[in-house]
Amino acid sequence: MSRSDLSRMIEEARRVVVFTGAGISTESGIPDFRSPGGVWSKMKPIYFQEFVDDPIKRREAWRRTFTGAAGWTGASPNAGHLAVARLVRSGKAKAVITQNVDNLHQDSGVPPDKVIELHGNASFAKCLDCEERHELDELKDSFLKAGEIPYCRRCGGLVKTAVVSFGQSMPHEPMARAQQVSLNCDLFLVLGSSLVVYPAAGFPLMAKRNGAALAIVNREPTELDVYANLVLNEEIGEVMAEVTSA
Ligand code: APR
Ligand code: ZN
Repeated sequence: MSRSDLSRMIEEARRVVVFTGAGISTESGIPDFRSPGGVWSKMKPIYFQEFVDDPIKRREAWRRTFTGAAGWTGASPNAGHLAVARLVRSGKAKAVITQNVDNLHQDSGVPPDKVIELHGNASFAKCLDCEERHELDELKDSFLKAGEIPYCRRCGGLVKTAVVSFGQSMPHEPMARAQQVSLNCDLFLVLGSSLVVYPAAGFPLMAKRNGAALAIVNREPTELDVYANLVLNEEIGEVMAEVTSA
């Protein structure tokens, strides 16, 4: 299978859904999770209940956020994101389901209402009780200077980045939208995911079982290659720039 096969599949499709993982953001300098040297080789995930129960874990979670330890802050979209934005702009792609929390699809010009964030967004924080939004900038100084863990300005509840942590329930509305677009597409295009985390990794399968073609562009083999119509083990930026160039 080659890039021209992928070009033809995109050409022939009328309703593409793009599904992205951390692999589309590594070319922006954000480490992925499971490649050698990835985030989980350097630090253990902090589970939701740990964040709620243990002030030490809460402090560590905020330290990672404010020191950029997880690499999400300050990155810019790369050729892969820009290619996806072209597919959306041309009307070919109806939605972008992403597991990423780096906001780079929105930053690359994909309208926010076309981005379905399954694992939330790391660019702002929310109160766990009343959902009040808090900007990271307003919390950063007091944390870095006085080590103060952020509490909600409105109700005093715990504040956490708007990322869905392990053990935290999945956001209902994005999950429902992801299901709706996965069942409605004729081409499901996976870019940069190892496809090992569920329920997110269930959407490619759902689309395929519902009659869509499944294409996977990923540096390494994935768990779902066996179901795919096309697999390209190549760099996303290069491939997607080529197959979406006008
Ligand atoms: N081009 C193509 N593939 C790439 C590139 C690239 N430039 N860079 C990395 N990859 C591939 C890697 O080979 C890897 O298989 O992207 C994949 C990324 O897989 P993971 O690191 O497992 O990331 P992801 O699939 O998004 O993880 C899913 O796990 O930890 C949780 O919540 C976290 O959303 C994340 C979820
Ligand atoms: Zn609150």
